[in-house]
Order: sequence, then structure tokens, then C-alpha cells
Amino acid sequence: MAKKPIGIFDSGVGGLTVYKEIRKRFPYEDIVYFGDTARVPYGPKSKNTVIDYSIQNARFLMQQGAKLIVIACNTSSATALNKLQQILPIPVLGVIDPGARSAVNASHNKRIGVIGTEGTIRSKAYSTAISKLDSSCSVFSKACPIFVPLAEEGWEDHEVTKLTIKEYLTPLLQNNIDTLVLGCTHYPILKESIQQFAGNEITLVDSAEAVTEKLDAILPDRELTGIGEDRFYVSDNEDKFMSIASKILDMEINKLIKVNLGEGWFLN
Ligand code: DGL
Repeated sequence: MAKKPIGIFDSGVGGLTVYKEIRKRFPYEDIVYFGDTARVPYGPKSKNTVIDYSIQNARFLMQQGAKLIVIACNTSSATALNKLQQILPIPVLGVIDPGARSAVNASHNKRIGVIGTEGTIRSKAYSTAISKLDSSCSVFSKACPIFVPLAEEGWEDHEVTKLTIKEYLTPLLQNNIDTLVLGCTHYPILKESIQQFAGNEITLVDSAEAVTEKLDAILPDRELTGIGEDRFYVSDNEDKFMSIASKILDMEINKLIKVNLGEGWFLN
């Protein structure tokens, strides 16, 4: 386990919200991040396709020496976590269970809203996880697919984003929820605009923070951590990734490597 990195993957830039929390909490861990920018978005794709992509992404991270994988994508976590846990010889963490636990802890009236991609909402992964933790909770879900391109575009407080938030959230807020799970790692990029529309009495749950707690509990061999080195990989559009990443992370990524489709690792 000595000096091996933590592997993180997402369909694009959204997982950087998870990377940011993990980096803050574990300054000496080495991290390797993969954003599948050639194939984003995962949300509207079929379950089998997302499982295939997730296996390929995880294998790539293992080739980079990952000692543990964090699936920084709710859509992949909802559909592929079990499969990856079955086939990989290293621990794999998803974002759904930690997010569900935070939501149950945060809610006073036990009325919880969940927003996510079509794939995540269709899977009912959050409602199942929340009911398992507390069967008296009512869960109200809404797929918000347009939030992903808005976040990828860097339009976190654009007028179009505000109108889209209003369109998606108005029916959800009519259910008297007191907690709203941002069930897609892209959504924290729009957090301020979402909070502004939802109002301060609604607690927003960001699964990036929740999964970092969980990681803290299982991370092995602390004394053998690395030097806090980062390696970022994408499958396309390096420039766009760089520019959104610098906004999310408040720093420039100085080493970003594009992995070419067809180099071998994308094949099963
Ligand atoms: N960031 C991903 C998630 O958490 C998905 C965005 C997408 O690729 O559709 O679900």
C-alpha cells in the first residue's frame, strides 16, 4: 500500500468538487483524477453503458497504481458501485450512501428532496438508501439534466441557470422539504444559485463532503502516504477542463494529461 495514490473518477469536471474536499482533508495523499470528458454526460445513458464506462475508468486508475477508488459521480455510483466492488481487488467508495446519511442527519421534518441526473433518479438509489437508514423519511426526487451542461459551461450564476433552477425546483419545493441532496457532483458548482432560490431554511447536502468523512474512516496506512502530488487525466477537451477546474479549485492545474481513445485501456 506504500505511496500509492487515491483514484477518483467522474464523467467530467463535477468530480473535482469531490477531489477538492479530499485534497483539503488529506494534504499528503497522492491523488490521481480521471474526468471522462469525451463521454460526458453519463446521466442520460443506459445503465449498461455507464457500467462499462465505469469499469474502464476504474481499470485505468488501477493502471495508475490507485490503492482505492472513489467514484466521484452519482450516476456511476448509483449503477456501477456493486459491480466495481465485486470485480476490483481494491476498496471502492461511492457517493450515494454517504450523501443519504448526511441528508437523514440534516433533516428535521423528514422530508428530503433529491436532485440528480436521469440515471441517478431512475435508479432510485437515494430513496432506497435513505429509506434503509430511516423508513419514516419521505423522499421527493427530480432529475435536473440541464444542470450538467450549465456547470460544464461555467455558467454558475448566469440568468439561464437561474431560470432553469426555478423551473426544476419549483415543484420540488412545494413538498415542504427541509433538506435537498445535490445528487450529482456537478451540482455543487451551482450551489450558490440553488441556495439562493431554495432559501436559507433548506439545507443543501453535498455528497463530496460526506464521502470524504467515509474515506477518513477507511483509509489505510496513514504513515505511508505520499507527498500530496496530483495527477489529472481527461479523455478530451483539456482546455475547457482546465478553465472550469481553475474556477472550481481556485488554482491552476499544472499537469493535465489527455488519454487517447484507442490506446488500449478503453478496450475491455
Ligand atoms: N457528475 C455526474 C454525477 O454525479 C454526472 C454528470 C453526467 O455525466 O451526466 O452524476
